[in-house]
Amino acid sequence: MLTPFVNEPFTNFQDENNRKAMKLALTKVKNSFGHTYPLYIGSEKIYTKTTTPSINPGKVSETIGYMSSANRELAEKAMQKALDTFETWKKVSPEERASYLFKAANLMRERKHEFSSLLVFEAGKNWAEADADTAEAIDFLEFYAREMIRLDRINETLPPTQIPTEKSQLRYIPLGVGIVIPPWNFPLAICVGMTSAAIVSGNTVLLKPASPTSIIAYQFVSLMKEVGLPPGVINFIPGNPNEIGDFLTAHPKTRFISFTGSKQVGLHINKLAANTAKNQIWIKRVIAEMGGKDGIIVDETADLDQAAQQIVASAFGFQGQKCSAGSRAILVDSIYDQVVSKILDLTKTFTIGLPEENHPIGPVIDQKAYDKILSYIEIGKQEGSLLLGGSTASGDGFYIQPTIFGEVDQEARIMQEEIFGPVLAITRATDWQEAIQIYNHTEYGLTGSFFSKDEHRIQQAQEQMHCGNLYINRKCTGALVGVHPFGGFNMSGTDSKAGGYDYLLLFTQAKSISRQI
Ligand code: NAD
Ligand code: ALA
Repeated sequence: MLTPFVNEPFTNFQDENNRKAMKLALTKVKNSFGHTYPLYIGSEKIYTKTTTPSINPGKVSETIGYMSSANRELAEKAMQKALDTFETWKKVSPEERASYLFKAANLMRERKHEFSSLLVFEAGKNWAEADADTAEAIDFLEFYAREMIRLDRINETLPPTQIPTEKSQLRYIPLGVGIVIPPWNFPLAICVGMTSAAIVSGNTVLLKPASPTSIIAYQFVSLMKEVGLPPGVINFIPGNPNEIGDFLTAHPKTRFISFTGSKQVGLHINKLAANTAKNQIWIKRVIAEMGGKDGIIVDETADLDQAAQQIVASAFGFQGQKCSAGSRAILVDSIYDQVVSKILDLTKTFTIGLPEENHPIGPVIDQKAYDKILSYIEIGKQEGSLLLGGSTASGDGFYIQPTIFGEVDQEARIMQEEIFGPVLAITRATDWQEAIQIYNHTEYGLTGSFFSKDEHRIQQAQEQMHCGNLYINRKCTGALVGVHPFGGFNMSGTDSKAGGYDYLLLFTQAKSISRQI
């Protein structure tokens, strides 16, 4: 009998035993640096001549390992393997498919700190952020396994309407071969979530991980091998997205593309996938979860200490490198100065440094992100009043000071464009109604928070704030699987709700069967 889904608890690092366990895992993972990692196509491990080094963003002199790189020929080979394997995998029962996810969740739980340590080194997460990423990955495995079993039993729980002359049923069958393209910022959770949802639904996939965090993705794929997932269900093909990305999106045998990343790349994939290739016999399905310009509103009735704390957590958690990051704070005029002062006091307490030493603020992911964020900081200096930070921070990595701009106009670029770094823009609204208008004045619509004690205003905010994930009196980051199904509106994506009850439907097609009686 299946137990109900519960979220994986976060590790309490105040506990000395947990701290010791994490330090041991960090050492163990560090001792494994320097290896070269292969592609996986079917049961074949392929080491390529060209490899890409994976660098510790907090200590750029440290190389974590070298990842093999697929070219078009290997991508085509992976496609053929995935097509062949689909013919057998689609016939495996949903229970058996789910069993691989349950086994993987158990093993990942046992090795939780090792996975988190790799997140510390390769993604630059501090311990709590890394631990939350691993916990979310475990949650996705547990949740989607149960979801597939639930969908398989849909005729018992939610049968089609029956008429006297027929017996009717509905079956959710898989789509075919999918391309899974995750981002680097939740390199375990999102990679595991997207991949496991696709395969438990009966599809086979080509997994192209994000380059900065491909070793984390490799460790997940290895775990799936270890639990006995048949070869060819997940084909692991890291590589240059410019070389293999468009090739696979345009491929006539690609049935769906599951993408999480920037607006720019998501729109590009969506457009390319809409073309019909020669011999293509379906309309490709695109699931595209993209960026955000998320905001937090505080009115004059709110608990201002709580609001300031949650603004800071939303803006600077993992250096603001979350699609859910609260990069805009919209404060009602009468409490503007008080809240700004609290935000500044809290942010000034943060130390900046090596993720393995567990500083609240670590590096951003790579040189490209570093340059982009610094250029937005220069733009911000023209658009608002610099209240804190505003430049690089010392260290052998991509460190940037948490930066806060005040009195920023709602039309400013730093209020409109996703920076994806530790930069908070604060704006003043005359009242809560104008604050909601400002909140909605972006092309995105992913997360938002409303801080107030006024029930009428809360009701209005619930109706009017246009975003996929709205939070009342709490931060706008940290969605939990099952609790906060996650995905955004408008240019934030196709509003697929990861960790929700309708997510697996995106990876299936419903077949209605009626038999005359
Ligand atoms: P990105 O768009 O640069 O890359 C995402 C993935 O797409 C990577 O694996 C990359 O290699 C691949 N890619 C790039 N060009 C491609 C192409 N032409 N064809 C196929 N694949 C291609 O994004 P990123 O920098 O990895 O991630 C950060 C972005 O992701 C931010 O915009 C963030 O808001 C967004 N994000 C959204 C969500 C969400 O759920 N909405 C979650 C996490 C991150
Ligand atoms: N799911 C992640 C969050 O809510 C992005 O912060």
